[in-house]
Amino acid sequence: MSLFKVNPEKCKRDDICVFECPALVIERIGTDAVPTPTAGADESCIGCGHCVAVCPHGAFEHRELHPDHCPPIEKEQHVGPEQLEYFLRARRSIRTYKEKPVEREKLVKLIDIARFAPTGSNKQTPEWSVVYSPGKVQTLSDMVIEWMQSVIVKKPDMAAELELQELVDIHKSGNDIICRKAPHAIIVHAPKQTGTPTEDGIIAMTYLELAAFSFGLGACWAGYLNFAINKWPPLKQALAIPEDHASIGALLIGRPKFKYHRLPLRNDPKIAWV
Ligand SMILES: Cc1cc2nc3c(=O)[nH]c(=O)nc-3n(C[C@H](O)[C@H](O)[C@H](O)COP(=O)(O)O)c2cc1C
Repeated sequence: MSLFKVNPEKCKRDDICVFECPALVIERIGTDAVPTPTAGADESCIGCGHCVAVCPHGAFEHRELHPDHCPPIEKEQHVGPEQLEYFLRARRSIRTYKEKPVEREKLVKLIDIARFAPTGSNKQTPEWSVVYSPGKVQTLSDMVIEWMQSVIVKKPDMAAELELQELVDIHKSGNDIICRKAPHAIIVHAPKQTGTPTEDGIIAMTYLELAAFSFGLGACWAGYLNFAINKWPPLKQALAIPEDHASIGALLIGRPKFKYHRLPLRNDPKIAWV
């Protein structure tokens, strides 16, 4: 099959697919003709599926995206601006968790939702590492501390700037400041050499964090853990992250022990209208 085909009976020749294709691989030549792929379309198509999704007549069938596999958008499911603002404001970083683990299927569902985050050129670069067993999350904290101790010895100036000794001391006192005694951790990583791995990973993890909140779960970004994964090879290996991938973000996740009762305040935004 060519890159796509258009049903001539259903197509209304309205050119919506031509206007909306971000890769400019759809053209329509002649008044009665249906849209066809441009020269080089196979190489340039990014597989985003806008063509299939935007056609109001169900006339467009992409080689990898059949309209029957793309569920219709239901207006009733849309979230209004007030509800969305409330939802986004009510999300907080959760650092104290119940011991009861989160069902594996729920974590799978969160990753499934995060797949729908936008990615540069629709490359869908994010890959995931899930630390499911609570004991293993604790091991990660210990490995981050090992890395910090090695920096204290090898790069004392950097260690002083990052206040690593203080963090090691807090950890040694039994306060898990790295992974917050979370039952689970999810790490997003991506090949270093592709287009926009950092942006892709951060946005995908943000989707995942919000999805977790909608499930009543609690999550917190683990900045030290993410930083250390990219610096300390044993950590990267323990997480089965390929050598040529960068860790983009780490999220601690579990059932929140405490409820939050008020929305937060934030600084006024700094905006330049130009
Ligand atoms: C990139 C990033 C890294 C973070 N790293 C940590 C961390 O290592 N430990 C932690 O307790 N919180 C961490 N946080 C959470 C922030 O401290 C938190 O988002 C901020 O204080 C605002 O609070 P809120 O998320 O509850 O609204 C991180 C947040 C981001 C975005």
